[in-house]
Amino acid sequence: MFIDVSSLKKSYTTGVVKTEVLKGIAMNLGKGEIGVILGPSGSGKSTLMNILGGIDRGDSGKVMVDGVEINNLNDDQLTEYRREEIGFVFQFYNLVPNLTVGENIEVVSNISKSPLNIDEVLEAVGMLDKKHRFPRELSGGEQQRVSIARAIVKNPKLLLCDEPTGALDFLTSRSILQLLQQVNKKYGTTLLMITHNAAIAAMANRVFKVRSGEIVEAMVNQVTVPAERIEW
Ligand SMILES: Nc1ncnc2c1ncn2[C@@H]1O[C@H](COP(=O)(O)OP(=O)(O)O)[C@@H](O)[C@H]1O
Ligand SMILES: [Mg+2]
Repeated sequence: MFIDVSSLKKSYTTGVVKTEVLKGIAMNLGKGEIGVILGPSGSGKSTLMNILGGIDRGDSGKVMVDGVEINNLNDDQLTEYRREEIGFVFQFYNLVPNLTVGENIEVVSNISKSPLNIDEVLEAVGMLDKKHRFPRELSGGEQQRVSIARAIVKNPKLLLCDEPTGALDFLTSRSILQLLQQVNKKYGTTLLMITHNAAIAAMANRVFKVRSGEIVEAMVNQVTVPAERIEW
């Protein structure tokens, strides 16, 4: 399995209060698959994703990504892992406001070892004609397209999306989901996406339901639905 997590635990301590956020997570996802994580707010979804992406560390348990135990990496190795292997997409795009679309992507491509061509990536997300615009001159859906271009320009092995459609209307959300599905197909990028929206689970190969730091249900979809056919 490309992602292979077991007995993953994570606690945060604030003052004298210790909160167990992940209580022994087990999950796996094959190379080139799409996984969806569903669960209520505060259940530990982002914490799990941040550990998989090398932003945070687990306290104990196994976190293997493409054969590497990332809990065993030192800080420099973890930074390298995050920079080279992982693409992130967030709910609120996180583009740099005073850089153009092209420059936002260049910033990432400049520090990657084998980046994709910037124009190719902009073309793939349908934003090549807006390369010289600033983020404030784009709609929310267009900004999310740019943030996806920024995430994939380094040609990551794993694309982690934390509620990528959480701030978008239905039609725009669906077009973003279609785009993510295209990226998954075209580049073979393994995709793991957090969402509140159970309807989105239909496009995933595997679905994980999280409640209070535990996976309460893991499902395999034998048949996945094209994003353009998903409705809610
Ligand atoms: N850096 C942190 N320090 C302290 N508590 C945190 C931190 N990050 C997350 N938490 C707590 O962990 C729990 C799970 O958070 P999170 O993983 O963001 O949930 P979700 O993404 O499912 O909404 C929440 O109760 C949150 O307050
Ligand atoms: Mg979250």
